[in-house]
Amino acid sequence: MKPINVGLLGIGTVGGGTWTVLNRNAEEITRRAGRPIQISVVADKNLDLAKQVTGGKCRLTDDAFAVVADPAVDIVVELIGGYGIAKELVLKAIENGKHVVTANKALLAVHGNEIFAAAQKKGVMVAFEAAVAGGIPIIKALREGLTANRIQWIAGIINGTTNFILTEMRDKGLPFDVVLKEAQRLGYAEADPTFDIEGVDAAHKITLMSAIAFGIPVQFDKAHIEGISQLDAQDIKYAEQLGYRIKLLGITKRTPEGVELRVHPTLIPAKRLIANVEGAMNAVLVQGDAVGSTLYYGKGAGAEPTASSVIADLVDITRMHTADPGHRVPHLAFQPDQLADLKVLPIGEVQTSYYLRMRVEDKPGVLADITRILADQQISIDAMIQREPAEGEQQTDIIMLTHLTREKQVDAAIRLIESLPVVTGRLIRLRLESLN
Ligand code: HSE
Repeated sequence: MKPINVGLLGIGTVGGGTWTVLNRNAEEITRRAGRPIQISVVADKNLDLAKQVTGGKCRLTDDAFAVVADPAVDIVVELIGGYGIAKELVLKAIENGKHVVTANKALLAVHGNEIFAAAQKKGVMVAFEAAVAGGIPIIKALREGLTANRIQWIAGIINGTTNFILTEMRDKGLPFDVVLKEAQRLGYAEADPTFDIEGVDAAHKITLMSAIAFGIPVQFDKAHIEGISQLDAQDIKYAEQLGYRIKLLGITKRTPEGVELRVHPTLIPAKRLIANVEGAMNAVLVQGDAVGSTLYYGKGAGAEPTASSVIADLVDITRMHTADPGHRVPHLAFQPDQLADLKVLPIGEVQTSYYLRMRVEDKPGVLADITRILADQQISIDAMIQREPAEGEQQTDIIMLTHLTREKQVDAAIRLIESLPVVTGRLIRLRLESLN
């Protein structure tokens, strides 16, 4: 059987894992795909590394553009990352009639519409299972397994670095900065961890899932993004006392007014399965009208877990590349001419529950002033704790949980509460999702 030929761009962690797994499981993968899948050429700037990983068992080059132009290559696997050269290479590969597999969430979240349109025009596939939640086959689940459903919402722990940091902050009661340094020392967090800790990486991933779930174009620019760098370990403790854990969630919801698309630290009930996803693990909770809740759990990063997804895409393409393009699974799950024009809601229009922590003077009438402001904004209180002031202390913390409220009303209430003379400093506001 004639092998299908793969040109691999980048043989770092994921590229190395792809080489290893593809070779180790070659016999079973061939039996599944119907023909051998062979990496015939690898492009990497570091030729020594490429030689070391491949043992010189395939062609090596430092010219990725030669690979995307190579007539012998059927599928290009892009594992370079970023928006720059990776975008050029992917578009060139498509122009040259090659199918593309990529783990590049940033590229697809920002330029996906352009890339999918180019692929559609050329009749080639762009597969990206590895771009979202590493080894968890969530793209397959959303696009195919759940295709009968009207998907209502998705909530995911889709960044392992931040989940590791939040787990350590809670377990050890340590501040964010200390745990971040530890995460860097252990190799979880990058030297520049900005995309992870500020929620950008999670926003790339939830943007892609949102597009597939609701059949809308990819709209990263409309996502509301907050990371965990400002999170105080004290709020993790108070949340725990109230029966909640704080996780960095990517959330997308269909509402009558439009689609919610947001990433932020979120209180979730400690009893939910997803609240117990710890360390660097990922999990995605999907709510469909027919199936109800489904939960997908696994490693969101790493050489072989991510390679597992890259190779799943290679097998899919090998099986489907001779099919009429109209009979393949559409890139965004819905037929390209059937994408909906649903509006992505600005954060002020989002409805959720809130955790509010404020530092107040411990004297009569303070609580009444605060609850009056909340009542005026139609905000209903669900739970409340007041920390008993320490001996001789004049101030204390009040923590309130609200029922479902529109964010702009909470913003208005926060401004008024912060202007009360009995309230010191800034009010801390976190969002809360019951996920039921
Ligand atoms: N940096 C990501 C994480 C993995 O920490 O989960 C790749 O998307």
